[in-house]
Amino acid sequence: MIEIRHLSKTFKLAKGDIHALSDINLTINDGEIFGIIGLSGAGKSTLVRCINYLETPTEGEVIFNGTNLGTLTPAELRQTRKKISMIFQNFNLFAQRTALKNVRFPLEIIGTDKAEATKKARELLELVGLSDRENSYP
Ligand SMILES: Nc1ncnc2c1ncn2[C@@H]1O[C@H](COP(=O)(O)OP(=O)(O)O)[C@@H](O)[C@H]1O
Ligand SMILES: [Mg+2]
Repeated sequence: MIEIRHLSKTFKLAKGDIHALSDINLTINDGEIFGIIGLSGAGKSTLVRCINYLETPTEGEVIFNGTNLGTLTPAELRQTRKKISMIFQNFNLFAQRTALKNVRFPLEIIGTDKAEATKKARELLELVGLSDRENSYP
């Protein structure tokens, strides 16, 4: 489902280049669970950001469900990203929104029907055992 081929990422800074990722090759099949483990600064976050092209690889390819993400237009990439979920380490929650409304927020901004968005958000809260907290604030 996710194929990473010869992926490298170099950050070019005034004081020199940082080779964050070098020739990563990885195949993750549908339903597989992978952990990426390494010391602080090893490149874990950069790799995860490359998987959905929030970060553009310097070299190599990311193939998601058979599509090479590097070949997509920005609009196509935005559509494809809707199928790739991501939870950031430093998440930002809206203090004035309930748990349900926080989870529903991305669906609201892309114009999903409100009932459908609420249903999806409830399923996700259920998945992580937070159903009883849907009306709680962060
Ligand atoms: N936007 C950036 N600009 C320059 N250097 C970066 C950037 N993001 C990460 N790095 C560098 O790339 C390396 C890998 O960082 P990162 O992916 O955050 O590691 P980890 O998540 O494993 O702690 C580090 O040396 C970090 O300083
Ligand atoms: Mg990190």
